[in-house]
Amino acid sequence: MKTNTEKFGVTPHQPSLWTRADALKVRADDPTTTQPLVRADFPVLNNDVFIWDTMPLRDLDGNVTSVDGWSVIFTLTADRHPNDPQYLDEDGNYDILRDWNDRHGRAKMYYWFSRTGKNWEFGGRVMAEGVSPTAREWAGTPILLNDRGEVDLYYTAVTPGATIVKVRGRVVTTEHGVSMVGFEKVKPLFEADGNMYQTEAQNAFWGFRDPWPFRDPKDGKLYMLFEGNVAGERGSHKVGEAEIGDVPPGYEDVGNSRYQTACIGIAVARDADGDDWEMLPPLLTAVGVNDQTERPHFVFQDGKYYLFTISHTFTYADGVTGPDGVYGFVADSLFGPYVPLNGSGLVLGNPSSQPFQTYSHYVMPNGLVTSFIDSVPTDETGTQIRVGGTEAPTVGMKIKGQQTFVVAEYDYGYIPPMLDVTLK
Ligand code: FRU
Repeated sequence: MKTNTEKFGVTPHQPSLWTRADALKVRADDPTTTQPLVRADFPVLNNDVFIWDTMPLRDLDGNVTSVDGWSVIFTLTADRHPNDPQYLDEDGNYDILRDWNDRHGRAKMYYWFSRTGKNWEFGGRVMAEGVSPTAREWAGTPILLNDRGEVDLYYTAVTPGATIVKVRGRVVTTEHGVSMVGFEKVKPLFEADGNMYQTEAQNAFWGFRDPWPFRDPKDGKLYMLFEGNVAGERGSHKVGEAEIGDVPPGYEDVGNSRYQTACIGIAVARDADGDDWEMLPPLLTAVGVNDQTERPHFVFQDGKYYLFTISHTFTYADGVTGPDGVYGFVADSLFGPYVPLNGSGLVLGNPSSQPFQTYSHYVMPNGLVTSFIDSVPTDETGTQIRVGGTEAPTVGMKIKGQQTFVVAEYDYGYIPPMLDVTLK
């Protein structure tokens, strides 16, 4: 029988492994892979809403694209409830932390625009209420398709279930701003299959989301990355020699790490428009290492494939740890083998003094890394915090062979275009 990969003319591949031995090399607070401290007096983009995952408008090759001189970003967004009795504490004060922690359940896709690649102006909701089939509109990717302004928004429709979907609309510009029109018909693309990617029935804590479509610079075909977990019933995964890697004596015990089963999934399009997809085996697995490899994305540089993903301290397995931040892997061809950048995989982590200062990093092909502010301590002990829900300072990074280096810091939410498209 032909495997899927053979049917679609894609090289069959073995997933690359992020091993426990690799993760043992993670060093928090290495200045070359640590995000500069975010100050507690940060500006807030908009006091009516929380924003978190930020998705710059881009083309299928990964270039961040402006239209008629307007930069556009999409964000996961939720209303703030400073006056809602539900979010007042016993003293009648707004419990912003509880409001912030509840945001995922009411996440919606919004857009923002700017002439300068920062100081974003509020655009509004991308889809009208009732268009998206589920309660939550989770992360994905807006793709500018052509100079008619057509945009395919790939995203995750969550609760009930988790389905990778897309919706087509159009970006329209005037002298004064940008609007999104259309985005009226959501097309389901695929869900976890239970053979390669874990389903909700196999694990109530499964992850299946965050589509990132792209054109492979080498074979020209249309593919998509996404976040998944390795298929199988929760607790049934094996953390064997391959997953452990070459560890020093005394590090063989894997504890309960079989519960951590993250992977980076890949699918190939059967058609030119990306309406018909076939899931392929994961590119990378982290069984026994970490349970979440979120928002996977590529930078194509120097003929190499730089695969980035975000992850958390709390999703690491027993016996391994690392900061919240962005991790990365590099290969000479799309299907690997991938090796962890900087030896460990850690590319840009939060400093240990401010472990939750930022998250959801997105590495752009110009080496700039955007993220959002989660919470920053306002006192020495870290017991008092200020919740963000806004754009973090952008970090500049150099990618060289198998290493990365933090080299610069820019303004809050600085996401400059790499090319401009004049709409016809
Ligand atoms: C990353 C993330 C994404 C998900 C969204 C939900 O911050 O967990 O994986 O789509 O946030 O809010």
